[in-house]
Amino acid sequence: MKRVLVICGLFLIMATPSQAKKGLDASAGKDAFETCRGCHSTPNYSNVAPVFYVPKIGGQRKAYLASALMSYKHENRARTSMLANSENLTEDMAVAISQYIEVSAGKVTKAGYTGGDAKKGEALAATCTGCHTGDLKDGMTAPILAGQHGNYLVKVMQDYQSGVRKDAVMQSMVGAFSEDELKDIAAYFANQKGLSIVK
Ligand code: HEC
Ligand code: HEC
Repeated sequence: MKRVLVICGLFLIMATPSQAKKGLDASAGKDAFETCRGCHSTPNYSNVAPVFYVPKIGGQRKAYLASALMSYKHENRARTSMLANSENLTEDMAVAISQYIEVSAGKVTKAGYTGGDAKKGEALAATCTGCHTGDLKDGMTAPILAGQHGNYLVKVMQDYQSGVRKDAVMQSMVGAFSEDELKDIAAYFANQKGLSIVK
């Protein structure tokens, strides 16, 4: 028992300096974000193969952003250009960058076209909006989808279906939809006012 206490005590002492290091904030995040601007601050910047617009992240929730960055690092998401951008990120730095992104919404531009039917999508998305609200201030942790590029939303829902992107909840939420239904859902969210590029 005594040994456990000693170990706990040591841990507390060791934990203190790293608490102090949490001085990383949005301004450190802003500096680190410079390498990301080419893709995430350029309106309608398109990925080449497959073709989809790079996701809008300006105004996205910081808790989600930090967890998304760690997902690339831990390979729960596809080995795209984002793996190279996240490979050496520490958790503290991911949090700092995410703080900067959340408060740095740029001009809201029209979302990429999906070809889906937004009205049908609204009915299909009735089970989604409890988690995917558009309001930054409501304390939710799921990503905001409002204003996201439609072709990115379709692509990423297909990634959940194929298991290229791993998340148990989302894989079960979108597993049964057809491609047309995914396009309808994407059109519904893409047509809303919300996310932007990072200014
Ligand atoms: C070469 C272009 C490129 C660069 C540079 C880049 N990204 Fe990305 N980013 C992408 C693409 C493409 C995706 C979508 C990947 C996927 O399919 O999951 C993405 C996805 C993301 C996501 C997840 C968005 C979501 O809605 O889930 C975050 C967060 C992100 N990037 C942050 C960053 C940060 C922070 C940096 C710099 C450290 C960065 N990106 C650099 C292209 C880029
Ligand atoms: C219980 C809460 C919850 C429900 C309900 C839910 N989601 Fe999600 N969704 C999440 C979370 C958490 C994530 C982030 C998972 C990750 O990091 O991969 C997510 C991620 C997503 C993404 C990826 C966003 C991005 O920026 O990459 C899409 C698209 C999405 N959900 C669509 C839907 C749709 C469509 C429905 C309804 C059919 C739905 N979700 C229902 C919690 C939920």
